Amino acid sequence: MRYKSLFRIITPVLMACVAFFSVQVGAVNKSFYPGKIWPDDKGVHINAHGGGTLYFQGKYYWFGEFKSENTSSALVGVTCYSSSDLYNWKNQRIALSVEEDEKSDITKGCIIERPKVVYNKKTNKFVMWFHLELKGKGYAAARVGVAVSNKITGPYKFVRSFRSNPGIYPMNMTDEQKKLSLNTEDYKEWWTPQWYKAVDNGLFTKRDLKDGQMSRDMTIYVDDDGKAYHIYSSEENLTLQIAELTDDYLGHSGKYIRIFPGGHNEAPAIFKKDGVYWMITSGCTGWDPNEARMFSATNIWGPWKKYPNPCVGNDAKLTFHSQSTFIQKVEGKKDAYIFMADRWTPKHPIDARYIWLPILFENGKPVLKWYDQWNLNIFK
Ligand code: DGJ
Repeated sequence: MRYKSLFRIITPVLMACVAFFSVQVGAVNKSFYPGKIWPDDKGVHINAHGGGTLYFQGKYYWFGEFKSENTSSALVGVTCYSSSDLYNWKNQRIALSVEEDEKSDITKGCIIERPKVVYNKKTNKFVMWFHLELKGKGYAAARVGVAVSNKITGPYKFVRSFRSNPGIYPMNMTDEQKKLSLNTEDYKEWWTPQWYKAVDNGLFTKRDLKDGQMSRDMTIYVDDDGKAYHIYSSEENLTLQIAELTDDYLGHSGKYIRIFPGGHNEAPAIFKKDGVYWMITSGCTGWDPNEARMFSATNIWGPWKKYPNPCVGNDAKLTFHSQSTFIQKVEGKKDAYIFMADRWTPKHPIDARYIWLPILFENGKPVLKWYDQWNLNIFK
């Protein structure tokens, strides 16, 4: 008798639980919901922050930083998810793991940010580039890390980390600028007109010439001709640099330029439409959002032109409370690009949200508007 009444209570509760979890886990997304929890195939909020996507053989792969509950440092590594429709993502687990060896550059507790994976047709390998900070050194190392895999989902093997293009002057530095003797000791006060002029002339490029240029927030862009470029915040985050990669995408070729010296750009994301490169970046305010910036060029080596913030409407001045990370072309649709950004939650890093919005074009220029919900039909 006692068992019967127990069953009468437990059975409906169990049935409700089964129904609830099957809805959560088996749910099929048909829209994007910017800023909301984004469950993966197991019903768990996607953990791939500061990430980027790669389309390969009919599927999209999303790589990003695995964030923990209480720290933004890398305790796990870089995650990978796969999707055939961009709405629903299957957890493919850890693509690049941090290492236990304390001597490794990617030892547990280092900082791994903004990983981007590209496919190299010549070597048939997948190459991951990421911003790396050495454990216990804050953001001082300002290095870039490279890892490689034969399989898109990994495991990726760490190759090395380094500063960019040691001993090489940027292509767009004039002979006069190269001859100038500039010393950071003489420019201790920042933001003065003299300091700006010195930065413009390569104050920090020269300081770091021997050991290589600083490289923090970054993306990798593969052009139509297969040439790949590393675009990164350099020179104490004051100046963006664009550096060509070697044909195997494992290093820099030695060709690079500086753009917008003293412009304080982070979080570069880029795409190309009708022969024009469009780049969206953020300013530098740590984990806090700020106003996006936009630039364009018809040649990757410039000249680059600055445009107003592409965001319009409420919260446009804060990029809808987010910071750019990547721009993905939607395969099979013309002029369809998705702006991908992070809404950081530094006190609880794992809870950071994804702000994916359609890039619309008005008078030929990219425009970003907020949508609580949208889907790919927005692209005509
Ligand atoms: C802003 C950068 O865009 C992020 O990737 C991260 O490095 C934070 N700064 C750290 O404050």
